[in-house]
Amino acid sequence: MPRPTVHRTPFGSAHGTETGLWTLDSGTGVVAQVLTYGASLHSLTVPDTKGATASVVRSLATVDDYTGKHPYFGAVVGRYANRIANGRFTLDGDTHHIPANDRGHALHGGPEGFHTKVWDATADATEHSVSLRLTLHSPDGDMGFPGALDATVTYTLDPAGTLAIDYASVTDRATVVNLTNHAYFDLAGRGDILGHRLEVDADAYLPVDGDGIPLGAPAGVRGTPFDLTAPRVLGESIGLEDEQLRLAGGFDHCWVLRGPGGGLRRAARLTAPDSARVLEVWTTEPGIQVYTANQLDGSFTDASGRRHERHGAVCLETQHLPDSPNRPDQPSTVLRPGETARSRTELRFPHLEA
Ligand code: BGC
Repeated sequence: MPRPTVHRTPFGSAHGTETGLWTLDSGTGVVAQVLTYGASLHSLTVPDTKGATASVVRSLATVDDYTGKHPYFGAVVGRYANRIANGRFTLDGDTHHIPANDRGHALHGGPEGFHTKVWDATADATEHSVSLRLTLHSPDGDMGFPGALDATVTYTLDPAGTLAIDYASVTDRATVVNLTNHAYFDLAGRGDILGHRLEVDADAYLPVDGDGIPLGAPAGVRGTPFDLTAPRVLGESIGLEDEQLRLAGGFDHCWVLRGPGGGLRRAARLTAPDSARVLEVWTTEPGIQVYTANQLDGSFTDASGRRHERHGAVCLETQHLPDSPNRPDQPSTVLRPGETARSRTELRFPHLEA
């Protein structure tokens, strides 16, 4: 069996700091490219059932495109993925303020979140897998968050073509942490996911207000367009008449996954229109934000000049639930000194097993 390999090429300078593009090659057809800028998944090449290759994630072309303002293409987002209402939370009696960057609320860790940082990277290859370990030191007070946080994100690619993303964070003072990856998936490589089928392993989701802030307790999906307990064609689901879909312009909601958090279980299954590629997302996280790229409008392009259009991709962001620092009834995102916040998400491609 061919051995997996890893190598780095320069990707240019981000505000004076050199960045690298790391290529992790499983040796069996699946190849992942990761940028040190934002610890971003730049491409993920996967053969289809006939052996044709294409990247299943959308990308930007140059380092300047990534350092410019963009909606988190492939990035690791943190320190707190998703929204913190009014950019404010109280922890151990102290109130903390995160700069509001989305309709008066803090989104994805604030304007200079982890997606804007150049991470340090070290690679490792064994006979069986290849991995890239990215680390970031976020100082006390970074974007208003308390405590110096050390975050590690490790991408591991195995010969079966599974890409695992492991997150581990430690702090020197109580803080909150919620990390995810913001890849835009498009399994057919055609820039349109309305014909993809999506299944989500959840019986409830969080309805939101007009700002994307959860209204309160989870609502059951039965009888709503949010029922993805069996595979649904995305274009049909988000085309239904529904106030929640109207507010968000499609799906931009967090589903509450079945079963206790902590254990690795399937969260979602996405199938290309011709079924030639299938992605399964497995995670230890309690939730998954499904975002059907409602705000993309063709203003971003990839290296081939292809535009990223509205509903041209879908983000499947495994995470703790939005605004948890203000919602004591939800699984806690508080991290204290001496603890490690760990989570794991796997991107599996079951069609490769055939
Ligand atoms: C959010 C969306 C946002 C998008 C890009 C998603 O994770 O839920 O509301 O528009 O990221 O910024």
